[in-house]
Amino acid sequence: SQIMKGGFDHYMQKEIHEQPESIYQTMRGRVRMEPQVQEGSLDPYKQQRIKLGGLAEHLETIRSGRRIVFVGCGTSYHASLASRQTVEELVNLPVACELASDLLDRRCPIFRDDTCVFVSQSGETADTLAALEYAKSRGALCVGVTNTVGSAIARSTHCGVHINAGCEIGVASTKAYTSQIAAITMMALALSEDSISKREPRDAVIEGLAHLPDKIRQALALDGEMRELAAKLKGEQSLLVFGRGYNYATALEAALKVKEVALMHSEGILAGEMKHGPLALVDESMPILVVATRDGVHKKMVSVIEQLLARGATKHLLVVCNEGDEEVAGLCASHGCSLIRVPQVVDCLAPVVNIVPLQLLAYHLTVLRGFNVDQPRNLAKSVTVL
Ligand code: G6P
Repeated sequence: SQIMKGGFDHYMQKEIHEQPESIYQTMRGRVRMEPQVQEGSLDPYKQQRIKLGGLAEHLETIRSGRRIVFVGCGTSYHASLASRQTVEELVNLPVACELASDLLDRRCPIFRDDTCVFVSQSGETADTLAALEYAKSRGALCVGVTNTVGSAIARSTHCGVHINAGCEIGVASTKAYTSQIAAITMMALALSEDSISKREPRDAVIEGLAHLPDKIRQALALDGEMRELAAKLKGEQSLLVFGRGYNYATALEAALKVKEVALMHSEGILAGEMKHGPLALVDESMPILVVATRDGVHKKMVSVIEQLLARGATKHLLVVCNEGDEEVAGLCASHGCSLIRVPQVVDCLAPVVNIVPLQLLAYHLTVLRGFNVDQPRNLAKSVTVL
């Protein structure tokens, strides 16, 4: 198994560091990075830049449907939350994200003109599979987004996209998460290919996809810094993680990593809800992580940091921000907070880059706290019982 880990100490660590390559594999042969003007064509810019063979025949059905419902558990659910706004903006359909168990508990109304997208790394999760059978019985078009060719979910759905991230062994999902976001983003691009008004935003997203492997590589260079931050946090009881917009999912996913492998209580909090409860937990000693990279909600996140600082939360305030963000850097420097500087990418792909240092943080916390990285207590890689 030392050989299987390719020189790394743990599978989780190997899989985190594999992400420049795994995300490339998700896109390989599916994204035409350069726009090519097609000579002789009536509209030289009308061209296919996203090729998802498994969806091609269903794009029109999905576009003309009532809404898109994403269904998953754990990290796969977070991947759908991270991509939700991208799908809403590009495809112009209502999008819901459902936890499989909750969809079933509520006997959620599903209609025959719905598209239900089942997101699952293993393709075998019992809750997700049961939700799939339920949606099928209601007549919805069922799409799979899985990492496992031939899995139960891949077989039972009507069509789908394989994320091709390569086998994931660590119980805590890492590379599958970033590839799921890339795959759902490509789905949104394919679904909006017929729209002239979406041409500009689509081009920006495709350009962003092209740069992702490099940006992830840059984020991985934060490994040493994340180890140092983990050393400062290792004796703490709890970690609050704030994010909003595209990075609400980043907050939830970072907190899930910290609790599932480092066995430390952690909560991902929508920053917009801060004053409706979570602020009561904030004092001088509460460790807090804020995701405040530059995007449409950056201003609001700066104000969140200010409010946290005003409550004296300075002992362990960590802020994920973009390189060159002097506003956040200045605010943090004057209070002695730690910065985690990540490269900037197009807004909708920031969750892919921003989670990388936080995966590293969770990994190092686990090692320093002396827990089992690849097989956290009480958890299984794939939960195949209801
Ligand atoms: C388990 C794993 C998680 C995973 C979830 C969903 O809880 O420990 O890492 O996110 O199942 O798994 P799936 O294979 O459906 O993505």
